[in-house]
Amino acid sequence: MVEPIRVGVAGLGTVGASVIRLLERQRQALTSRTGRPIVVTGVTARDKARDRGVALSGMQWFDDPVSLAKSSNIDLFVELVGGDEGPAREAVEAALRSRKSVVTANKALLAKHGMGLAKLAEEMRVALAFEASVAGGIPIVKTLREGLAGNQIVRVYGILNGTCNYILSRMEREELSFEECLKEAQRLGYAEADPTFDIGGFDTAHKLSILSSLAFGTAIDADAVHIEGIQTISLADLKAAEELGYRIKLLGVAQRTADGIEQRVHPTMVPRSSSIAQVMGVTNAVTIDADAVKELTLVGPGAGGEATASAVVADIADIAKGIRSAPLGLPVAALDHSPRVAVQRHEGGYYIRLSVYDRPGAFASIAARMAERQISLESIMQRTGVGPRSASQPGQPVPVVLITYATTETVIRQALEAVLADGYIAERPQVIRIERE
Ligand code: HSE
Repeated sequence: MVEPIRVGVAGLGTVGASVIRLLERQRQALTSRTGRPIVVTGVTARDKARDRGVALSGMQWFDDPVSLAKSSNIDLFVELVGGDEGPAREAVEAALRSRKSVVTANKALLAKHGMGLAKLAEEMRVALAFEASVAGGIPIVKTLREGLAGNQIVRVYGILNGTCNYILSRMEREELSFEECLKEAQRLGYAEADPTFDIGGFDTAHKLSILSSLAFGTAIDADAVHIEGIQTISLADLKAAEELGYRIKLLGVAQRTADGIEQRVHPTMVPRSSSIAQVMGVTNAVTIDADAVKELTLVGPGAGGEATASAVVADIADIAKGIRSAPLGLPVAALDHSPRVAVQRHEGGYYIRLSVYDRPGAFASIAARMAERQISLESIMQRTGVGPRSASQPGQPVPVVLITYATTETVIRQALEAVLADGYIAERPQVIRIERE
């Protein structure tokens, strides 16, 4: 009889409960696939009394994650507690130190301490697996680390936060308010405990820093991610995007350039015909540009209990089979420290929405400030239907939307400062970068 692998699960929220259910539902298939039974022998969560709709009989209850992590009753520790410090970090370190493999969905922990944890796992010769930390059910970690080993990757980008995509999709389609959509995302269990992590772009940045490391063989550097959230996106922008043939998505983009690696998270205009623009709701999508495979896009559920549990269980199955990959694809000492490129040096097209006082000279000022800096305009649209007002009154601000051809961030910002100084603009411009396939 083959020895079972004994699993301890810390955190029994939406994902934790789904992991236990999934392991039970697929018990026989998993035993056949891995060659040994997978048994949950220990659990811990904040509230023992809460009914989670899963049977915990036969599992030892622990009052805190660290004692579960150290228990001799488990071989593998699954961390679904969350948070980049405190019990999650302590328990993961304790598990690794006691030579237990770890499976985690904790992108915040990995973004901040991934390098140290990967090194510790390496020293202890155990696995540190984190498929569920990026893009929920999409097997993007395995794809980058194993599936594309024969490629040089030049860019990885995508929709990495289900909550934001859900909010933007519903706002656009149903003209609902931001707040209404966020509440619904929370009700459905997509949002982080603190939803500012989602809407502020931080969750995407954590995930992007992990993808960047896997894609480029470089150390995780989450502090170098330029981050903008979706709080400033209005229905006016969503409508203008539609009229101009674009859609707005919160993208995480990591790109190798001649100067180093760009890592940025921001609302982005994507052509309406692009595959990423078709991705709506909680769905995530990751596109990889690489030399051999050219372009590869993976699309799937980015959040939610079952989808995330699917990734956690895949990691558990790998470990049950005895697979121990270098967590970040290379030994920690072999990861490079490529410089990160500041967003000011970003080159691309821009969407600019200005609130312009409707009086003579306004357009001339905008055009002159752009032309002075060699910024070429792809389109310019003055629409009374785009903004809060439905009809123009002389002297009152009206929305003007510009789409530029490729230029640099620094030049755009300088031009807009000059436009502001001319006094025709009623409020700070809305600027959204354009990303093309
Ligand atoms: N809050 C995250 C999201 C959960 O909305 O994508 C998955 O990481």
